[in-house]
Amino acid sequence: MSTTPSSDSLTSLTRPAAPVVAAPMAGGPSTWQLAAAVSAAGGLGFLAGGMRAVEQLVQDVASARKATAQPVGVNLFVPETANTAIPAERSAPGSPARRRRAAEVAAYRSSLLAEAARLGMDPAELPAADTLDPDATDGWDAKLDAAESGRWPLVTFTFGLPAPEVFDRLHASGSVLGVTVTTAAEATRALDHGADLLSVQGPESGGHRSVHDPAADPGTTALADLLAEVRAAVGPSVPLFAAGGIMHADAVRAVLSAGAAAAQCGTAFLRAEEAGTSTLQRTALEQAAAGTHFAHPDGSARTALTRAYSGRWARGLENRFMREHSDAPAAYPEVNSLTKALRAAATAAGDAESVSLWAGVGAARARPAPAEQILTGLLGDSPQ
Ligand SMILES: Cc1cc2nc3c(=O)[nH]c(=O)nc-3n(C[C@H](O)[C@H](O)[C@H](O)COP(=O)(O)O)c2cc1C
Repeated sequence: MSTTPSSDSLTSLTRPAAPVVAAPMAGGPSTWQLAAAVSAAGGLGFLAGGMRAVEQLVQDVASARKATAQPVGVNLFVPETANTAIPAERSAPGSPARRRRAAEVAAYRSSLLAEAARLGMDPAELPAADTLDPDATDGWDAKLDAAESGRWPLVTFTFGLPAPEVFDRLHASGSVLGVTVTTAAEATRALDHGADLLSVQGPESGGHRSVHDPAADPGTTALADLLAEVRAAVGPSVPLFAAGGIMHADAVRAVLSAGAAAAQCGTAFLRAEEAGTSTLQRTALEQAAAGTHFAHPDGSARTALTRAYSGRWARGLENRFMREHSDAPAAYPEVNSLTKALRAAATAAGDAESVSLWAGVGAARARPAPAEQILTGLLGDSPQ
């Protein structure tokens, strides 16, 4: 059974003075500078450990620690090999499910050859289908080792639910542990395994949905209702971060009055000066804000869910690639590896129609500013 962290450390980490969490955003946006700036300003900053080499992540943790005495969280992707939400028969090597999945990935690869040609790439730059490994771990063991030996104060898991032993191990080295959940059932199981806090992710969210079973369709219950369902399922004392479409002070106040410990905002920080968001994505967000592209006639951003880029459902600004590859299989991380070179080539070519532009439904409200100013705006201390 997990040792629970002291209530002091739980409270100080999960109830930051400024009740806003800068969501971990893998793939570039979450820099240590962004995490440190938000924590230093009284919020809670996060480093994104997904798709980041462990050496770089350890360096990020050290840089953030040097920049601020305030704690910064670290988020990790749970690989399929460590995800207890996946039935064993589906993940057994050589099983019918695995063979079907490999065939779907190979077919998807074939359908992407035209994309490679369009970008002037050699088709050999797309990895061969039989080199794509569903059991790739993204350095999971090394990252847990680093969390343990570095005594990281706050670690959250997304994309699945690790075994109770993982919670026991990191609790023993002093970490407070969180899990991203998208349903009340996931929330209950996460607590059973040892989670201290939950990040409740609504369908409005930008980036990947953290549905624990990747074969399941992501839920559609709006954040406000989902928050109420999770609260009813887990009781009054579990700290909840509320995530999804929170772009202004009224929305922060709404989740706090519904009992959340903090609002977890990703898209609101995508245009922060300290963020590592690509120029291509910054321009796309600017266009969405101006209503000139990626926008509905009413001025809201045009976003959609897709598996086309990664093999897992994620929300981003809706573009051609998403529309033309709505048949992508449920196969993360293979599809993510498959499209990596395509995404890099599209970025280099400035082609915003062929690259993932992860953002939530509130994308048109993201503004360029220093992170501290964005935080202040979310707290209602100045117009956002
Ligand atoms: C670009 C981007 C990358 C993201 N990467 C991660 C991640 O690495 N880990 C994670 O737990 N959540 C990730 N998320 C989801 C956020 O944690 C959060 O649920 C979401 O941003 C909330 O919705 P919002 O974007 O509308 O604020 C990402 C979101 C975005 C926009």
